[in-house]
Formats: sequence, C-alpha cells, structure tokens
Amino acid sequence: MATEKLIHTATEARENAHAPYSNYKVGAAVETGDGQIFAGCNVESSSYGLTICAERAAICSAVSAGNRKFNAIAVVTKSGATPCGACRQFIWDVCGDVIVIIADTMGNIKEIKMTDLLPDAFDESQLK
Ligand code: THU
Repeated sequence: MATEKLIHTATEARENAHAPYSNYKVGAAVETGDGQIFAGCNVESSSYGLTICAERAAICSAVSAGNRKFNAIAVVTKSGATPCGACRQFIWDVCGDVIVIIADTMGNIKEIKMTDLLPDAFDESQLK
C-alpha cells in the first residue's frame, strides 16, 4: 500500500475541491488492486443534497476506468475527518474491507479498517 503517494495525491486533489458553500475542502485517493491511484475531491451543489463527497468521486473515477478491486483509500481534510456515513456505506459496497488512511493537512495520519468504521454493515449479502 503506497500510503505516502495516496496522501500526496489526495492532498493535491483537495486543492481542486468545489466547496463554495461549506468552504470545507476534501481530497481522496483510492488505490486499485493493481496499484493504480485515482483521485477525487468534493463537488458541492447549490442544491446542497446533490453534493458529491471526495471519497465517492475518487471511487467512481476508478470504477469508470474499469477497476473492481481496491487496497486502500486516503482522505485528506484540514481537521483529519473520517468519511461520512454515506461514504462508509459506499466504500464498503464498492471497495470492501479496505484500509482507510485519514490524514490532516498538518501531517497527522491514522489508518482504520472499513470493518471498524462500519461494523455489522448492511450490504449485498442481505439482498440474496
Ligand atoms: N465531505 C466529503 O467530501 N467527504 C466526507 O466524508 C465528509 C464530507 C464534504 C461534503 C461537503 O462538500 C463538505 O465536505 C462539508 O460537509
């Protein structure tokens, strides 16, 4: 897992955030099973609920390029925030039990497994 590269890519993507309403910039970078890295940032809408979080933007970019296996996702914010509830569900559904790297802009880093962020998750197994 290329932790430093993931954090660097997420930090750069964060600069592209479109966050005129919250002014809270988020960058994310997801690593695929074969080591590619895809970036995303939050993109806000004036109809607030349509906002796309950075994590989901990064994952959609990777999936759109044909990727289905993932190792890790990094999220960079000023405050070192963990992914929101909607993103936890989305990461679990698309990426599985990946490592989530949480970083702030001061260089503090922590790693959490998805099963610790979203224990006893609802998922596709319920739909069979
Ligand atoms: N945001 C993310 O991009 N990811 C999260 O996991 C939490 C929230 C964004 C959405 C919105 O643009 C801003 O942060 C404030 O909620």
